[in-house]
Amino acid sequence: MGRIQLESVSKNYGNTHAIEDVDLDIADGEFLVLLGPSGCGKSTLLRLVAGLIQPCEGRILLDGNDITTTPPRDRNLAMVFQSYALYPHLSVAKNIGFPLRSRKFSRTVIADSVSAVVATLDLSELLGRRPAELSGGQRQRVALARAMVRDPGAFLMDEPLSNLDAKLRSATRTELIELHQRIGTTFLYVTHDQVEAMTMATRIALMDNGCIEQVGTPAELYDTPRSTFVAGFLGAPPMNLFDATVAEAGVEPAGTTRSSGGELHAVAPGVNIPLGIETDSRTEHSVVVGIRPEKMQIVDTHAHVDAVVTTVENLGSEELVHIRVGSNTLCIRAPRPSDARPGAPISVRVDPADVHLFDRDSGRRLTWRPEKVSANSDVPLFVA
Ligand SMILES: Nc1ncnc2c1ncn2[C@@H]1O[C@H](COP(=O)(O)OP(=O)(O)O)[C@@H](O)[C@H]1O
Ligand SMILES: [Mg+2]
Repeated sequence: MGRIQLESVSKNYGNTHAIEDVDLDIADGEFLVLLGPSGCGKSTLLRLVAGLIQPCEGRILLDGNDITTTPPRDRNLAMVFQSYALYPHLSVAKNIGFPLRSRKFSRTVIADSVSAVVATLDLSELLGRRPAELSGGQRQRVALARAMVRDPGAFLMDEPLSNLDAKLRSATRTELIELHQRIGTTFLYVTHDQVEAMTMATRIALMDNGCIEQVGTPAELYDTPRSTFVAGFLGAPPMNLFDATVAEAGVEPAGTTRSSGGELHAVAPGVNIPLGIETDSRTEHSVVVGIRPEKMQIVDTHAHVDAVVTTVENLGSEELVHIRVGSNTLCIRAPRPSDARPGAPISVRVDPADVHLFDRDSGRRLTWRPEKVSANSDVPLFVA
């Protein structure tokens, strides 16, 4: 079993709030990825769970038992470090068996456990070698085998693939996904790499500045980001974000044109996107509009965005078309060939369902709540 709960956990280093009041409930068998930029507190959170450091406040539970002050070796959690930390003078077999030998298990128990993980990780060819005779990927597998041999309640991994080259990283990613599916043990996995998070996680906890910004499945974070931070962090190239005004037709910022009445539009210089929301109530909001590059459709006729192409990047499978709209530069992900040429005018269509709206001040996602519409125009029509 391996349910891990953090309750109001905080950790300070002097004046640095490395972790601030974090709540997180990781179910047994999850592959939970802690994702976020460098310095946001991912490693600190992992080390708190491992017991290598103590929280200033809050509790940590493993399968319902308070382990906040339990020493690391009594936590039944296995930490896999980025540097692998293998013993250079020991063979692969001895390295893998080490955690059991140090706990004084019998020779037969050690031999059985080692051969089980060796079979699972396909390491039988390498048992007699020393770490120096292994590739980076093989060392990583041995480190994993050494963690697995104790049959821990959960694996804790801090950027375990960051020392591998791109090709090996991708292969090892697939191996870890398969391994998790096979053994079903809880994984708590730290990375700053959104591709690792999107592909491996059953859920992602996206962190910023010691806090968890959003927890959810990769699809939830990608499709309904809670804030501009989440929206901008996931996706390569990232979501286009730009300032706009949401208003009923008729309330027009200078230099823009509008059509139909009663429908809300997102309006900015060169941008006029109908949102598919009808209202009688007068409303005007300063927002940040978010649109994924793959949701911008290049069309032949005048549409929702009028722009000029700046550059075109051919990625082989598709093109990235960079466009200038007013003072903003946006990116379109288009099927090849797009026919876009630098310097040429371009029109873009956007479905209302693909427009994300965020509050300009707080950065929080805005949701249209028609049930809040009333004669009283002070009632917010969008709520964060
Ligand atoms: N031992 C420490 N002493 C002082 N500050 C630390 C220590 N460990 C981490 N920090 C600070 O806490 C913050 C979070 O660090 P860390 O958890 O390592 O971030 P991440 O793993 O997301 O890059 C950073 O500001 C870092 O400088
Ligand atoms: Mg770190």
